[in-house]
Amino acid sequence: MIHLNDKTFEVFIREDEIFKEISSLAETINNEYQGKEIVFIAILNGAFMFASDLIKCITVPCEISFVKVSSYTGTTSKGRVDELIGLNTDLENKHVIILEDIVDTGITIDKIITLMNEETPASVKVCTLLYKPTAFLGKKEPDYVGFSIPNKFVVGYGLDYNEKGRNLKEIYQLKED
Ligand code: IMP
Repeated sequence: MIHLNDKTFEVFIREDEIFKEISSLAETINNEYQGKEIVFIAILNGAFMFASDLIKCITVPCEISFVKVSSYTGTTSKGRVDELIGLNTDLENKHVIILEDIVDTGITIDKIITLMNEETPASVKVCTLLYKPTAFLGKKEPDYVGFSIPNKFVVGYGLDYNEKGRNLKEIYQLKED
C-alpha cells in the first residue's frame, strides 16, 4: 500500500503483468503493420513510460514524437480551442498510432484524433495501456487496449494523482475507506 497526498492506494497491476501485456500489444502491432512504417505520437505527460517500454518491442520501422494537448479560451466565437503542442513531424500520408496512458471518458482522445486528422495521415489508430469502458463517452473505442479496468482512479507507471505517483513501477488503485 502507498500514500500520496491525502489518499491511500493499493497494488492493482504488477510490473511483470504490465510488461507481459505490452509485449503482446507490440506483437499485434508488429503483425498488423508488416511492410508499413509507423509514426507513434505519445501523449504527455502520462504516456512516457508506456511509450518507452512499448517502442522497445516494436520491430517494424517507426518514429516517435511526444506531444501535449492544451486547451485554452480563444478569442473566436468557438470559445475553447484545442491544440497539440510539440507536433513537429509531418504526418501527411503516414500511419499514425497515438499512445495514451488511459482512456477514461474518451473526451481527450476524441480531441486528439480530430487534431491529427487535420494533418491528413494515411491512418490513425489509438493504443492505450488502460481503458475504462464504463466511463467511456467517446465516438470510437480505442483500437489497441492493454487492460480494460473498472471505473476507479489509478496511479503509477506514468499516471499521477496531483502530479504524484508517476514514478511507481506498478499500477495502483485508489483504496476505498
Ligand atoms: P479522458 O476522460 O478520457 O478525457 O481522460 C483525460 C485524462 O485524465 C487522461 O489522459 C489522464 O491523464 C487522466 N485520467 C483519467 N483517468 C485517470 C485515472 O484513473 N488516473 C490518473 N489519471 C487519469
